[in-house]
Amino acid sequence: MAHRWTNDLTDRDVTPEDVYLTRRQWLAGAAAGAALAGIGGPAAASGLEPNTWDEITSYNNYYEFGTGKDDPAMYAGGLTTAPWSVTIDGLVERPGAYAFEDILKKMTVEERIYRFRCVEAWSMVVPWNGFELADLLDMAGVKPGARYVAFETVLRPDEMPGTRFPVLDWPYVEGLRLDEAMHPLTILATGIYGRDIPNQNGAPLRLVVPWKYGFKSIKSVVRITLTDSEPPTSWNKANPREYGFYSNVNPEVDHPRWSQATERRIGGGLFSKRIETQMFNGYGKDVAALYDGMDLTKFF
Ligand code: MTE
Repeated sequence: MAHRWTNDLTDRDVTPEDVYLTRRQWLAGAAAGAALAGIGGPAAASGLEPNTWDEITSYNNYYEFGTGKDDPAMYAGGLTTAPWSVTIDGLVERPGAYAFEDILKKMTVEERIYRFRCVEAWSMVVPWNGFELADLLDMAGVKPGARYVAFETVLRPDEMPGTRFPVLDWPYVEGLRLDEAMHPLTILATGIYGRDIPNQNGAPLRLVVPWKYGFKSIKSVVRITLTDSEPPTSWNKANPREYGFYSNVNPEVDHPRWSQATERRIGGGLFSKRIETQMFNGYGKDVAALYDGMDLTKFF
């Protein structure tokens, strides 16, 4: 399917050319991740310098495998990710269970280097591989009455030890407004550094919405439902005062228990300065218009 977005425009204007070229070379090599692990540290402060493979895959939130940052890397290996299918239903022309391989055959997978900002005030830069969610929704055919998109993570208590505890109301669910879902920056990621996405990061496919807090980026998606009303979302159900439906990155709206003005970039080292959080995580030029006329302190 056609690209709606020229990735180079989002990367090249902030990434020094030599870094860009080097990264391309790494990607060309078979051991892309291994090569990067040794190089990612020193220059991590500037622009969209990606975090290392090790950082991205060992410091995770995936509560189905435990609430510790290293739990997902330790326990997510037990999740069976093949075969995999995604059910697309609700207000679509062609509902059904779509096999992951069949989806991949029809989609254009490309690299997207995005800032990733967790609501807990840490951040990374991740070189995702993925395709635009809009292309998948077009494949299923969105019906005119659809206004929202609901997402659901697989729920397998036998393989997901964390779901034995009522930390959240399982399965993990998330949602977007249809225009957010159709935005060209919104992707379903299938890889990192050109390799298959590891289980702890949400294999075999997970949502990435770079201008929103990380918890909107739901992992290991098995269901996508087009609806006419705002769907429930896991963190909003757990604590509506702290986590809104929109959850756009916004340095001016503090979390009730901490400031959102700054963030800690993972991998920056013990003495690295916190960096200023940007409105819409730096993607305002592309997405601010989606929220024209909305009071973002009310729709947080
Ligand atoms: N998806 C599911 N199913 N379960 C989770 O616990 N955690 C969210 C999000 N998606 C989560 C999830 C949160 S809080 C964050 S910050 C990101 O995943 C973390 O993604 P990463 O581990 O790839 O950095």
